[in-house]
Amino acid sequence: MFESITIADRTIAPALFLAPMAGVTNSAFRRLLADFGGYGALFTEMLSASAFLQDKADESPFIKRRTCEGQVIYQFRVSGEENLEAVFARMAEIDCTAIDLNLGCPAPEIQQKASGAALWRDFPRLQDVLERIRRCYDGPLTVKCRLGDDPGNWREGFRERLRLFEDCGIHAITVHPRFSTEKLKRRARWSEFPWIAAQTKLPIVGNGDVCSRMDVDANRALFEPLAGLMLGRMAAVKPWIFREFAGLPPLEIDHAEVWDRLYRYTLEDFPPERAFGRLKEFTFYFAQNFFFGHELHKGIQKAQTAAGIREAAMKFLEGRPQLSAGGMASPA
Ligand SMILES: Cc1cc2nc3c(=O)[nH]c(=O)nc-3n(C[C@H](O)[C@H](O)[C@H](O)COP(=O)(O)O)c2cc1C
Repeated sequence: MFESITIADRTIAPALFLAPMAGVTNSAFRRLLADFGGYGALFTEMLSASAFLQDKADESPFIKRRTCEGQVIYQFRVSGEENLEAVFARMAEIDCTAIDLNLGCPAPEIQQKASGAALWRDFPRLQDVLERIRRCYDGPLTVKCRLGDDPGNWREGFRERLRLFEDCGIHAITVHPRFSTEKLKRRARWSEFPWIAAQTKLPIVGNGDVCSRMDVDANRALFEPLAGLMLGRMAAVKPWIFREFAGLPPLEIDHAEVWDRLYRYTLEDFPPERAFGRLKEFTFYFAQNFFFGHELHKGIQKAQTAAGIREAAMKFLEGRPQLSAGGMASPA
């Protein structure tokens, strides 16, 4: 399963993707993942189409990408208000595997900007945005979505959008099978993957709550119809997780060294004041490797600077903390 996937003229092998995660999947974090390997392609965090036009490609940590990362898919949130033609003209100069549109983000601040789940909901505007993009850009284009808004009646609307994606030459669809009202609560509905994949010829990449290869093996019939698999939070808990999915030999992990490496990479790409929040966010997930991980989380809450976060993290990590099975949670 998930040996390879073709998106337009690009083959991605294995068909394993790092999920886009705002505040996490920046250039420094992707560099860390590249050190471990095992994935097929990495998503950037969600980029604002209008901010993108103002950023300098060689300086912006949002656009920046290193050769070691391999295949990278840039995700944008759009509403249609932006100068899409300029965004896609600029993206054509950046060598990337594909451009992805966020049609699933339920965060109120994103929906207020008429993006994410709000764009998915508004079918005529969604159609207009996709057709406009297709008039100016014929390259690899993917979308990422949830199931919609209404758990009682979503299939028809979902199918209608799949037809639209086929008509607009979308190359692959990532589905995170939760509803827009659910944030990250309840379990992702893996049981819907077979129905979704049966509705379209387009490759479906499945995402949501996958913690280990055992999850996939134990639910083979649900994952088998998928063309690819995407992991989000678990990659922040265990940046080496893709090795397990790809069947690569396990590595001896020195957790303190890995954390410190990410710290160094983050400070190479971000000024300390912007590194601060990113280090906190990553550490929230990384703490889940430890039985008393809440102590690490608590320790860094008091820190006022990036260096302060390092001091608190190293104090915990260098004490050889007891490892846990490494679950998955999200900040409240
Ligand atoms: C901190 C965080 C930030 C996220 N940011 C984005 C984003 O920018 N774009 C997006 O499409 N999804 C975003 N997501 C959703 C993830 O891509 C993914 O769909 C979700 O976490 C479920 O996958 P997982 O259970 O493997 O983490 C975010 C999730 C988290 C936890």
